[in-house]
Amino acid sequence: MTEPTQLFVCHGCGATVDIARNLPFACPNAGRKGDDTDHVLIPAGDEKSFAAGSEPNPFLRYRNLLSPYRLARSAGLSDNAWAEFVGTMDRALLAVDGRGFRTTPMIPQPALAKALALTGELWVKNETGNVAGSHKGRHLMGVMLYLRVIEAAKLPAASGLKARRLAIASCGNAALAAAVIARAADWPLDVFIPRDANLNVVKRLKELNATIIVCERQPGESGDPCIREFRRVVERGAISFGVQGTENGLAIEGGRTLAFEMAEAFHAAGTAPAALFVQVGGGALASALSQGFAIAAAHGALPHRPRLMTVQTAGCAPLARAWQLLAGIELTEAVHHRSRFMQPWATTPVSLAQGILDDETYDWWEIAKGMRETGGAPLVIDEGAIMRAHAMAHAHTKIAVSATGTAGLAGLLAAAPLHEPVAVVFSGAEI
Ligand SMILES: Cc1ncc(COP(=O)(O)O)c(C=O)c1O
Repeated sequence: MTEPTQLFVCHGCGATVDIARNLPFACPNAGRKGDDTDHVLIPAGDEKSFAAGSEPNPFLRYRNLLSPYRLARSAGLSDNAWAEFVGTMDRALLAVDGRGFRTTPMIPQPALAKALALTGELWVKNETGNVAGSHKGRHLMGVMLYLRVIEAAKLPAASGLKARRLAIASCGNAALAAAVIARAADWPLDVFIPRDANLNVVKRLKELNATIIVCERQPGESGDPCIREFRRVVERGAISFGVQGTENGLAIEGGRTLAFEMAEAFHAAGTAPAALFVQVGGGALASALSQGFAIAAAHGALPHRPRLMTVQTAGCAPLARAWQLLAGIELTEAVHHRSRFMQPWATTPVSLAQGILDDETYDWWEIAKGMRETGGAPLVIDEGAIMRAHAMAHAHTKIAVSATGTAGLAGLLAAAPLHEPVAVVFSGAEI
């Protein structure tokens, strides 16, 4: 039998990681002194077609498009073995969170479109009913399934794995998703949160038995203190279970299932959105959507990719700043000079859309690539638009979505009127 393998490639330095041998989380060349390359590991792109199954669970439906599945098969595990990993997690998720992963609804919302003066259809993908109440679990379920595969196939990457704790830096939906999935997998999790974390989130994290570590912002320090502490424990052996692309390239891949579901639904409806307005914090969501739509379009599941319109608040807009600095510069050049384009936001970010206040857009480069390839752009929205979009979503749909989750709609509000079909993702139930 040939050696099992699946490759990830760093988009900055070109390093390849064989995920049978090493965890495809941070690039092995990241963090070297004096290095200014942007390192993120990306699956090598072995999708032969847009081969979707008929199962409602996205981790079964799109298994051919997921590198942990392809790794499982190359390691001699059967299709049934994969179904068993997914099924076992599904039963455990039902017990822990009352729901497992299923294709989430996406329909046109005519009343909301009318309120925004849009003459084309407005499609809303509703992720508020997903595991832990947001899309974040998609990122982390991909990682958990990978961990299951390498353990079961006894691959070199699994060496010492079970003795290591999972770790994440987040104060919101990502932390909730990590805690639900870790609990379902019966794997201990450390969550690094800021002092001002949402009390309801903290309560739920405790119910889920996550260990909480509160991280303080030091005077004069730039960057997120939770990420700083998270990196410290990962260096000491914790398993990176976060959703920043720089810290876990594999997490982005699971998020692509969101775009795959949307592409299939558009195809079935005989339409394709001209633009996608998406809220951006650390950047994993927009990066995953951009990559997922690119795969769907490359394999004919959609006639074209939507324009990637990214949305940040005026209180924290590092991506928009990077975009301005990128004017006239090739991305292949920019990838070697990260700090020229992406620096932590200098002031403590504040907004009603709390979930997108990441100090840095960690996955900025993939998003910039997606915006350039599709003719998209970043939008910076004031608090008034954030509030109006949230109120309009509640007035004109039945979706109990958070202000973070309607920040993409706030971007659309600023861009309206538009006369073409457009899409947004409502994610993050009101907590
Ligand atoms: C509901 C919701 N939407 C969007 C985002 C942004 O995702 P990302 O940090 O991957 O850019 C978040 C992040 O926490 C979120 O909670």
